[in-house]
Amino acid sequence: MLNCQKHLFNLSEDVTYLNCATMSPFLQSVERIGIENLKRKTNPQHIESHHFFTDRKILKERFAALIGAPDPDSVSIIPSVSYGIATVTKNIPFNKGDEIIVLEDQFPSNIYAWKQVEQEKEISITTILAPPLSEGRGKLWNERLIEAISNRTKVVAIPQVHWSDGTFFDLKAIRKKLNEFGAYLIIDGTQSIGAIPFSIPDIAPDALICGGYKWMLGAYGLGMAYYSERFYQGSPLEDNWINHKGSEDFTNLASYNPEFKPKATRFDVGESSNFILVPMLAEAIQQIIDWRPERIQDYCRDITADGIKSLRDHGYFIEDPDFRAQHLFGIFCTGKRSMKEIKQILTLENIKVSFRGQSIRISPHLYNTRADIEKLVNCFI
Ligand SMILES: Cc1ncc(COP(=O)(O)O)c(C=O)c1O
Repeated sequence: MLNCQKHLFNLSEDVTYLNCATMSPFLQSVERIGIENLKRKTNPQHIESHHFFTDRKILKERFAALIGAPDPDSVSIIPSVSYGIATVTKNIPFNKGDEIIVLEDQFPSNIYAWKQVEQEKEISITTILAPPLSEGRGKLWNERLIEAISNRTKVVAIPQVHWSDGTFFDLKAIRKKLNEFGAYLIIDGTQSIGAIPFSIPDIAPDALICGGYKWMLGAYGLGMAYYSERFYQGSPLEDNWINHKGSEDFTNLASYNPEFKPKATRFDVGESSNFILVPMLAEAIQQIIDWRPERIQDYCRDITADGIKSLRDHGYFIEDPDFRAQHLFGIFCTGKRSMKEIKQILTLENIKVSFRGQSIRISPHLYNTRADIEKLVNCFI
């Protein structure tokens, strides 16, 4: 079991920060690398041609290692989840009548692009509704999703962990059913990758799109995506100089080469060499690899178990641990206090969480302790 890692961060002592699902704090090492690289451009002669390639290669290698992707060329550097999803919607050959399956109250960056496809291509979107707040909700939600998959289904576009209440979706089982129909599995991994183990060979998604500033502990403005070989002949949202073959030879850039670099490299965003954000995210991912995501789950389970039991005993609905993440869970105000009352108390106590729909979202990390959770629980009971 890992020990608390708060010493690696610079969080203020007067705050109880339980809100990594909104924005992670920087590791000290990541902040340091960011500042060093920001300053490099004060004297730009220190930025040489090879720097356009070296750090992004390291970042891709580390992200590939984190998600178990065998090949760093199967991953791309993206600025946002919406960008990664737009790449996907542009490159799936839709037919009239196709169905896309999503979940109720999914994050908008994995919804709006599908709605656009719905309008343009005469396909339909099926939303799998969340079951009522009672025992077995997460299990039932998974079952409803799997039952809904049919020969009409072209795409299931969902998160691994629901952003507002932490419900966990069994991607392996979903993939298995999708394989019967050759459908696409598109995952928004923003609320899980970095905190939960993931294996590309086991789950075989067609795309895994991740924002970098939450559980991957990077800066805002940079994320990572994996694309399967179904997309390797695809057309990127933009053509930039670096995703074309031959870009390493600066003297010859104007001998335009129409061929893209292999695999998912073609989907890298323009200016993907980002000299500040790329090495920051690479450093953060290395720390996560060293910690190991399964140990982050174990740690969060350990510090939250007693508190969650107490909240459940006091009548608050929280999903069963087998069907939710350990690092992100929603507390539904079915207990003594209303959401409004709790919000006021949390503000007074300087406890940072977030309010998403009907759920109070709690998202601890390795810098939190059992005492933080006790303090939180006391605001509810
Ligand atoms: C599940 C999920 N996906 C994506 C995002 C961010 O999307 P984008 O990078 O398009 O701003 C968030 C932010 O809260 C999120 O919770």
